[in-house]
Amino acid sequence: MIRKLSRNIRIYGEISSTNEELNRLLKEEELEEGAIVKADFQTSGKGYQGNIWQSERGMNLLFSILLKPEFLKIKDAFQVSRICSLAIAEVIDKQKLDSCIKWPNDILIGNRKVCGILIENSMLGDRILHSVIGIGLNVNQGKFNSDIPAATSLFLEKGCQFDMNIILEDFRSALESWYQVLIMGHTERIMDAYLDRLYLFDEPAAYSDGESEFMARISGVLPGGELELVTDAGELRTYGFKEIEYLV
Ligand code: BTN
Repeated sequence: MIRKLSRNIRIYGEISSTNEELNRLLKEEELEEGAIVKADFQTSGKGYQGNIWQSERGMNLLFSILLKPEFLKIKDAFQVSRICSLAIAEVIDKQKLDSCIKWPNDILIGNRKVCGILIENSMLGDRILHSVIGIGLNVNQGKFNSDIPAATSLFLEKGCQFDMNIILEDFRSALESWYQVLIMGHTERIMDAYLDRLYLFDEPAAYSDGESEFMARISGVLPGGELELVTDAGELRTYGFKEIEYLV
């Protein structure tokens, strides 16, 4: 059975963080799967690893969408991350721009980050109850602070302004399709599509694991989301989130 995502959307001019707001609403009321909280501006936008997510007022897409993948075990949580990355990459394809996914879930155009994804899951037993998926997609912003040098936007890449409502609808619809693939259990298809778009897959590059810097090639991403690398010396290594840094 097809699980349609709700079109319920709450729009705020200014808010602390759309993830925070969606998490707050979830405590107060029953929200449908697909419910979206969107804002023009966040005063405390949350990034990956406790970073702040900066975005010029009204220029970019800042939203959080709710999924309820209760069929997924906690150990499979990374599948949600994969389908979100794939949905964003498809939104960008539609604008005839090439993007790739930098593990675990940054979306790049060239070497610059155009979108960040922050997923916060809540659990019930060994299953995922709620996935609050926060997306910051740089759409119409023309200039980024020098403290975030590796950022870009669709505008900077394409030279024209975009209708953010259309981009959001494209995302919702791409996510709905990939979510269906996940519900049907076709995880191989998801993992292959993710690998096809993976930044630096099978290419030599420099990494640091906190102890040393080394050259390696990405050889895969495990079902649980760990990055697998083969070093120049032929050693197979596996890293979880926060355990490795790209030096490019
Ligand atoms: C990253 O650091 O790459 C993840 C950034 C995620 C930012 C988005 S913006 C909308 C949503 N609300 C937040 O507070 N964060 C996410």
